[in-house]
Amino acid sequence: MSELTPINFTRGVPANESFPIRDITKAAVAAMLDYGDSLMQYGPSLGFAPLREWLANFYGVQPNEVLASNGSLQIVEFLSTQLIEPGDVVYTESPTYDRTITTLRRHKADIIGIPGGADGPDLDALESALKKRPPKFFYIIPDFQNPSGAMHSRAKRQRLVELADQYNFWLVEDAPYRWLRYRGADEPTLFELARHRVLHMSSFTKIIAPGARLGYMIGSADMLAKVAKIAEDTYISPNYLSHGLAYEWCRRGHLPAQIEMLKKLYAPRLDACLAAIDHYMPDAQATRPDGGFFISVTLPEGVMTTAVRAAAAKRNLNLADGLAFFPNGGGERFLRLPFCALAPAQIDEGIRRLADSVNEARGK
Ligand SMILES: Cc1ncc(COP(=O)(O)O)c(C=O)c1O
Repeated sequence: MSELTPINFTRGVPANESFPIRDITKAAVAAMLDYGDSLMQYGPSLGFAPLREWLANFYGVQPNEVLASNGSLQIVEFLSTQLIEPGDVVYTESPTYDRTITTLRRHKADIIGIPGGADGPDLDALESALKKRPPKFFYIIPDFQNPSGAMHSRAKRQRLVELADQYNFWLVEDAPYRWLRYRGADEPTLFELARHRVLHMSSFTKIIAPGARLGYMIGSADMLAKVAKIAEDTYISPNYLSHGLAYEWCRRGHLPAQIEMLKKLYAPRLDACLAAIDHYMPDAQATRPDGGFFISVTLPEGVMTTAVRAAAAKRNLNLADGLAFFPNGGGERFLRLPFCALAPAQIDEGIRRLADSVNEARGK
């Protein structure tokens, strides 16, 4: 069995073949020749002004309502420095993006995980938590959530912004997968529903490449100025080379075609994943997203992810431990399946091996 080709359902990375290397190279050369002095010099810590103006125009905000950094995770770090005193309450969904949990813990936040379903957080659980201890902010991923693949319903989005007003907390909306909807219609962002309450984050990681290390936050100019001060104290100014090439690439109009290319590449991978689950694991409790990078599976009662991982390893199938996505424990039967970096045939074979592994762990 160990001769089987390895298949990795571990990290949520983009496919190498998605990187727009030719157009980025041309944009980088043009950017350096046209405004290389600005890109080679220190500049304001809010980020390269033309990129911020481009994003401001895209989101319908003012340039001082845009901060561009070196990846969106670093913005979570800066925001945590700004907002969290040790012991402060922060809400996340449960499960949520594990690296955010690590960041919040490093800032000694008291994290309360609000259980999430396929259509967003459990509102009863949220309201009862709010009555006891409202948070400084609620970190939330409404579109094609990492790790579950959940998509928040319109009604839940609306209620979230109402509750944020009522209990006076920030919603930190992290939306890197929003660009990647393979079918169906968008829901409004939390930011569109309540600009005064929401700090909206996104990233070029899933659109251009993680190597660009380029994320951004849209929202209150006051808050962004405070975050920019922390950014300045940390790195003086962000990576202007990366900001410049991304700006030039966007200015040249490559973004819409790149998004279409990504959808064409990834939609069949999502379909392969759903079809293989239906075929090999018809009883599985799986999310069925219309976009993003992830499907998640809740294993049958009594079957633990650790046992399935061990059975999968024998079949050269590598699975991630689900526990790290749950801030307050749980997740023993949770499995995240990132499908974008695998070809459809690998996905089919991977889920066939997964089904065998689940059967072995069940003692069948
Ligand atoms: C929800 C979420 N936020 C942030 C990030 C990190 O993005 P960046 O590469 O821009 O730091 C990821 C990456 O997987 C993610 O899934």
